[in-house]
Amino acid sequence: MATKILFVCLGNICRSPAAEGVFLHLLKLKKLSREFEVDSAGTGGWHVGSLPDRRMQKAANNRGIELPSLARKINKNDLINFDLILTMDNENLCSVKALASELDCPPKAKIIPILSFGSNPNLTEVPDPYYGGDMGFERVLDLLEDACDGLLKNYSSNC
Ligand code: 4NP
Repeated sequence: MATKILFVCLGNICRSPAAEGVFLHLLKLKKLSREFEVDSAGTGGWHVGSLPDRRMQKAANNRGIELPSLARKINKNDLINFDLILTMDNENLCSVKALASELDCPPKAKIIPILSFGSNPNLTEVPDPYYGGDMGFERVLDLLEDACDGLLKNYSSNC
């Protein structure tokens, strides 16, 4: 059975679609796409239906990574359908846990920060790049490439 992973940030137009794209790219390179189902969502709904932010797309495309997703808002079913929900920062983590507390049953999904899989234990959050400059988007990709590598090593039976 494929492991179902949902990446979550605030707007679902910068960090979580980038995480989705980085992980899908890695799976393709390693020929492990069949082992995972991958999606992303935001805790906020302002950008529902939008493509990722152009600055995020450009930075990812420069690394050979496509960002195929359209923004959507996380919902309670996600907590039951996914095996793993990976949040970008502490605010996202709190929001997803608050949503989980509204369920009648415990969530199936394990809810943890994506940087739990990063190589630097001192880093716990992927900074929100939305109101900053281009370097912020590069930083997001650096952190996500590192963490997705760790994620795959933890969850693939073939790595
Ligand atoms: P994201 O970045 O959570 O990484 O998608 C943001 C995108 C949009 C907004 C905030 C953060 N916003 O306030 O519209």
